[in-house]
Amino acid sequence: MSGALPDRYAVAGHPVEHSQSPFIHAEFARQTGQSVDYGRLLCPLDAFATTVRAFAADHSAGPVRGCNVTVPFKFEAFELAARRTPRAERAQAANTLRFDRDDEGGWLADNTDGVGLVRDIERNAGMALAGRRVLLIGAGGAAAGALGPLLEAQPSSLVVANRTLSKAQTLVARHADVAAATTLSAITPDQAGAGFDVVINATASSLQGADIPVDARVLAPGALALDMMYGPAAKGFLAWAEAHGASGRDGLGMLVEQAAEAFFVWRGVRPETSPVLAALRARLAAKAG
Ligand code: ATR
Repeated sequence: MSGALPDRYAVAGHPVEHSQSPFIHAEFARQTGQSVDYGRLLCPLDAFATTVRAFAADHSAGPVRGCNVTVPFKFEAFELAARRTPRAERAQAANTLRFDRDDEGGWLADNTDGVGLVRDIERNAGMALAGRRVLLIGAGGAAAGALGPLLEAQPSSLVVANRTLSKAQTLVARHADVAAATTLSAITPDQAGAGFDVVINATASSLQGADIPVDARVLAPGALALDMMYGPAAKGFLAWAEAHGASGRDGLGMLVEQAAEAFFVWRGVRPETSPVLAALRARLAAKAG
């Protein structure tokens, strides 16, 4: 029907004004010819569920089909859904909700962060993870989303290093059964040892301007060192990595890849990510300049 209203989505979080997701999804929609309108949904810290439910119920500007969820609501989003994908279940956190009707089973919670991270490392950065030694720093929501998909890529070892050891241990215990091909362990950052091929920073330390939580000897020569943050928040980690002979990578590629996977969950169509990542880098560089 011509003139039909677009299907609506949004990124729900606090804050959301700087989110790049509306730009990314607008590019995906344009590229794939999908009729999609993607906005921002600022949720008060104490009213995530009511804000999302109100958004989902208002079809005046087009049918509302789903949302992405960002900090600090990924755990609440997981709780809110009627159904969860296995990867969301493993992470105990969701970054994607699909508002399926009750007669379709109800709202579905998914977590596309880890798949996005693995695709960015393997396809965009060109580092196959199979047989590699991987260090994952952090054991919060960001690390929880990443661990399952990282293990599915079958590194030879994967060490989760976290300031609060018990959180790393809990995360590792929850993933023991997917770690068949991988030696999986939990430690504190000072115990990390040396010579990892891939080092992933999934902590909030850079946001707080804190020191890098691990010693530089964790970096094998030519290692890939990826911070899940981007922009100014990733700068310290990337400078540290480059200064110690590693190849630094920010979280923009992961951001675009997790968005592409969410777009697929909603629309059943896989967008091309590389032109969108290039456009996003250019857009952010222009803003910074
Ligand atoms: P997110 O959802 O972004 O992962 P989170 O769940 O609050 O946020 O987790 C933050 C992570 O960053 C945790 O691993 C946290 O370590 P603790 O579990 O010990 O709190 C880590 N983190 C935060 N500040 C840090 C710092 N200054 N040094 C090292 N790790 C830090």
